[in-house]
Amino acid sequence: MAHFNPYDWSFHEDPYPVYKQLREEAPVYYNEEFNFYALSRYRDVESALKNWQVFSNKAGVALEDIKADPAKIFFILGMDPPRQTVVRGILRKVFTPRRVAELVPVLQEMSQSYINDFAESGDIDFIEDFAGKIPMDLISEMIGVPKEDRDMIRGWANDLMERIDCKPDVPEKAIEGSINLLGYFGDMVKNKKRGLGGEDLTSAVLEAQLDGESLSEQDVVSFLFLMSVAGNETTTKLLANALYWGQKNRDQFAKVQNDPGRISDWVEETARFDPSSQILYRVSNSEFTLHDVTIPEGSKVAMLIASANRDQRVIKNPDIYDIDRDLSNTLSFGKGVHFCLGAALARMEGRVCLEELFKVYKDFEVDESSLARVHSGNVRGFSNMNVRFIKC
Ligand code: HEM
Repeated sequence: MAHFNPYDWSFHEDPYPVYKQLREEAPVYYNEEFNFYALSRYRDVESALKNWQVFSNKAGVALEDIKADPAKIFFILGMDPPRQTVVRGILRKVFTPRRVAELVPVLQEMSQSYINDFAESGDIDFIEDFAGKIPMDLISEMIGVPKEDRDMIRGWANDLMERIDCKPDVPEKAIEGSINLLGYFGDMVKNKKRGLGGEDLTSAVLEAQLDGESLSEQDVVSFLFLMSVAGNETTTKLLANALYWGQKNRDQFAKVQNDPGRISDWVEETARFDPSSQILYRVSNSEFTLHDVTIPEGSKVAMLIASANRDQRVIKNPDIYDIDRDLSNTLSFGKGVHFCLGAALARMEGRVCLEELFKVYKDFEVDESSLARVHSGNVRGFSNMNVRFIKC
């Protein structure tokens, strides 16, 4: 019988057999221990994500019940339309493709500078020395955190990700990280509001208006906090997953070696095959019946996007890692009204960081004995990965 526990370490090691069993045997699965339902087939996950009227974000996106107001903790991810539409409209006015494009040279320089630090030996802890640094540094650049504060901010953002083995509880260090980040962003927003800002995203969000509506200072602090959570760890994991699956599938990496123009396909297929964000939670606004199972009103429902991406009903040969495939219909960045606001930024980061690495190096070897995974109920990827880069 299918069994799915999102906190189980053996599930973290390889969740895909569990997803397959759920898709085949229990497409609407119920977990008694944690009291939630799970959808695993592509069509079901896709239509539920589009159906915000039934599958709501009003309780946030975590499995655990949140005591505080979810819109304060998760910001836009804790809202439904019409409020979510207004807030997203304001954010989209400033979080533009032009702003992402302007970050390309900044990111190139950032990547080159980290690569220079290890260029001679080529032997690195890929997470600590590269992939774990760049996403938060780039977010800092975007939102206007001065260079001298960035190590501190990155440290707090990393503390935030601290987890205890197998348990849903938030450890002390993560709580401290949140308090520090919120305090820092609170002061930063106040200063920018007083006109001490610049051309950065924070100042732009504070000024942006849509149909006479704007965001409060508190909203902007919550937005900055959400970016540090949603845009940091996920991108780090995507970069490391690309190397891992590139090593496991040398024929696919060879295509990139022969044509660096294929790096975007490498990033995109990695995001489909082994997405860093695996599960999105919703709460049901009303009773809902699917595949003869009735989900009662008020139930937590897990959307298993990583399983949907491997559903053979929609994706051809889903368990084969293939950078040539049609990647237009994957759910790695979500679907519907909450579709990832940072998707273009994340894709650009994946592409530019790998481009810069493979301008200097021609090959790499992941030391598989060094690999360690994060044990989270949602994010999938490595906390340690030693890599030897080999020069051109
Ligand atoms: C590989 C990297 C990333 C992945 C896999 C990812 C994945 C996702 C997914 C699946 C959602 C939908 C959540 C839901 O429906 O409950 C989402 C939403 C969001 N993401 Fe990302 N994300 C990534 C990077 C980023 C970056 C770099 C940023 C910005 C700095 C960002 C900002 C956001 C925001 C603000 C939302 C909420 C949008 C809304 O509620 O309307 N993400 N992301």
